[in-house]
Amino acid sequence: MCDEHAFPMPRIGDKAPEFKAITTQGEINFPNDYKGSWVILFSHPADFTPVCTSEFMTFATMEKQFNEANCKLVGLSVDGLYSHIAWLRTIKEKIEYKGMKNVEVTFPLIEDITMEVAKLYGMLQPGESSTKAVRAVFFIDPKGIIRTIIYYPLSLGRNFDELYRVLIGLQTADAFSVALPADWRPGDDVIVPPAGSCGAAKDRMEGKEDMKCYDWFFCTKPIPKETVLKKILNK
Ligand code: BEZ
Repeated sequence: MCDEHAFPMPRIGDKAPEFKAITTQGEINFPNDYKGSWVILFSHPADFTPVCTSEFMTFATMEKQFNEANCKLVGLSVDGLYSHIAWLRTIKEKIEYKGMKNVEVTFPLIEDITMEVAKLYGMLQPGESSTKAVRAVFFIDPKGIIRTIIYYPLSLGRNFDELYRVLIGLQTADAFSVALPADWRPGDDVIVPPAGSCGAAKDRMEGKEDMKCYDWFFCTKPIPKETVLKKILNK
C-alpha cells in the first residue's frame, strides 16, 4: 500500500543523496563540494524559533572546533532565503544567550521552501509535523557515505557534546580500526576486533596479548588521549 506521508529515509552506509541548493553562503552542490571533508548536515524546524536559535548559536560557536576535526557544517530549514538572512542578522545583532553574543553564522543554511531536500533526507516526519523538519543530524564521511544519523523532536534541542563525541568517535574507529564502548571519550580504552580463531581466543584469555580481556570476545586496549588527538586533530 502506498502511504502518501512516507518519504524515503537514507540509511547508515548509504551514499549521501545528491542535491543542488541555494544557501546563505551561495549555491552548493551536495555532497560533491565537500569531498575530502566530513560534513554534518542538519535540519531545524523553523527560523525565528527559540530552540533553533539556541542551537544555531551553539553550532556557530563550536564551528571552529568542528572545522579543526576536518568537519564542515550545513544547516537546513524549509524557510526561504530572506527569512534565513533576517534570522541570522537578528541572532548576530540582538541575541545574547548563555554568554554567547554577537554570534555570526558563517556556515551555509539551505533554503528549502519546496521541501525537496527535506524529503530526500527523510527530515519530514509527519507524525511530528508535516510542515516543519525534525532536528535531523547526518554525519557524512569524506567519501560521501552516511555514517551516523540522529533525530531529535521539535521540542528538544540537540546535545552538542554528543555531536562532537560522535564525530571524533567515528574518526577514531576508522583511524585505529577499533570499536568504541559505551560512553567512550578520547583517552578511554577501545575495543579490539574479535579473535578470529580458537588459537587467538585462547592466547587472549591466557594474557599472551597486550590487552585486557573480559572474555575471549570482549577485549580492550588503551589508546592515550594524546595519540587520538594527534591523529584526528593533528595537535
Ligand atoms: C523551536 O525551535 O523553538 C521550536 C520549533 C518548532 C516547534 C517547537 C519549537
